[in-house]
Amino acid sequence: MRNNKKLRSADWFGKSDKMGFVHRSWFRTQGYPDDYFQNKPVIGICNTWSELTPCNGHLRDIAEVVKRGVIEAGGFPLEFPVTSLGETVMRPTTMLFRNLASMDVEESIRANPIDGVVLLTGCDKTTPSTIMGACSVDLPTIVVPGGPMLNGRFRGECIGSGSFNWLIKEKQNVENYTAADINEVEIGVARSQGHCMTMGTASTMACMAESLGLTLPGAAAIPAVDARKKVMAQLSGRRIVEMVREDLKLSRILTRAAFENAIVINSAIGGSSNFIIHLLAIAGRLGVPLTLEDFDAIGSKVPLLLNLKPSGKYLMEDFYYAGGLPVIIKEMQSWLHNKAITVNGKSISDNSAVATCYNNDVIATPAAPLQQNAGMAVLKGNLCENGAVIKPSAASPHLLKHRGRAVVFENIEDYHARIDDPDLDIDEHCIIVLKGVGPVGYPGMPEVGNVDLPLKLLQKGVKDMVRISDGRMSGTAGGTVVLHVSPESSIGGVLALVQNGDMIELDVAARKLHLDVPVEELTARKAQWQSPTPMATRGYVKFYIDHVQQAHLGADLDVLRGGSGSEVVRDLH
Ligand code: FES
Repeated sequence: MRNNKKLRSADWFGKSDKMGFVHRSWFRTQGYPDDYFQNKPVIGICNTWSELTPCNGHLRDIAEVVKRGVIEAGGFPLEFPVTSLGETVMRPTTMLFRNLASMDVEESIRANPIDGVVLLTGCDKTTPSTIMGACSVDLPTIVVPGGPMLNGRFRGECIGSGSFNWLIKEKQNVENYTAADINEVEIGVARSQGHCMTMGTASTMACMAESLGLTLPGAAAIPAVDARKKVMAQLSGRRIVEMVREDLKLSRILTRAAFENAIVINSAIGGSSNFIIHLLAIAGRLGVPLTLEDFDAIGSKVPLLLNLKPSGKYLMEDFYYAGGLPVIIKEMQSWLHNKAITVNGKSISDNSAVATCYNNDVIATPAAPLQQNAGMAVLKGNLCENGAVIKPSAASPHLLKHRGRAVVFENIEDYHARIDDPDLDIDEHCIIVLKGVGPVGYPGMPEVGNVDLPLKLLQKGVKDMVRISDGRMSGTAGGTVVLHVSPESSIGGVLALVQNGDMIELDVAARKLHLDVPVEELTARKAQWQSPTPMATRGYVKFYIDHVQQAHLGADLDVLRGGSGSEVVRDLH
């Protein structure tokens, strides 16, 4: 429905005074004709392109196609760069900078003459960071996911990006892969532009955006190099102009119902555990009530329909050919709020009404799912008073109820120094406890929760052990890994008090994680505990350490929760 509200950008370009002259005149340097400043919706194309973020390296091309669509619909496209986050490159971890990138996005949108926003996303954190920032401004916004790489190939086999990384230690040391073998895999697993093509965090985030209603239908699974990715980008450019005219803001789409839908769909696709932390942070920006417990209550009973690596067989390209996310949405109708609206103004169920599954081996049905009860489980107990998470579908069934002796590593350096020591007192029944990898402690909560097993146990044929930490896990990884322990060890959570030899009980069915040490003993240990020296004394990292919230709240900065809208209180004088 058309809205006659004055365009926000008219406050810059529509004035006849000195500042109107200034705002227009400097844009004239780029060669725009008069009519571009006369009541055309200005569409900011928020681009996370960077050559330092290989997964987003094609987004300048995509931006040009979005511009075509914006111009066709009568808009004025203006592309702007924001902080990009390359998962495989940045040290110590991109998660340290997700909130920083979101600040960049938020302030860039608000400070400029923008009426509507297109978010160009790809690599893991580039999706949540841009959505978080955009939510705090709350303009009409559409997401164009950059798309996954083509399927990886190695000696006739399909291989998934990311997932192979976790096998390299085993391949080199147990299966005797040579340097030439590894080199061949390196190229074979990165065949085209795009983000990781397993159901890792990037694919999870693209599906999250689509299931929240923030993309045009079917956008998430289109491979980056498929011509239809450009068609989707062009149509998104057209649509954002209409969204401005309809004043279809983020807050009208991102209701509690949309968040619940995203949780259901994430379980049905076997999405990454990182989904939890990012969705909590996005909800926090809009003030939509969402808790860690909601992920278990809404998602844990959902059946798994998608047969993708790391837990399944196929990759994102196969998912697209099988029909993509609209098929999952259609199959999951009875679990969803079907009237939730999306960026095209239609409901999530209208958008998926004609979806057809072309391969039931890739996308199963709720009547014959790949697995029942596939969603995340939220654990509680004295070891994680505010919660911890585990992805049962990625775990070993025989370890889901387990009591084991703790083998403790005080930090990641301690782990690397000792894990392969032949004298380390550890067997496959032990529980590996890694401290100091939470939001404050690392800092930035890296994806190290799925630490490699000791070499001597890998050589014995051990494939999985229970691992517990306050860190995260890559969506491309698997194992019986308890993550996001809150409160984290570095701020004095009970995790900090675990010692070698303590017994720990994990019971996923009972949602329990218990450190079997008497309260008096824990009290005595706490009295002796000293907080570690902070990892930074200045700059953004110090600001992050001082303000980051715990994992169960989404690890956003406390000062960034909520939004400030799109109003700018003072003009440029
Ligand atoms: Fe960018 Fe996996 S490294 S998506």
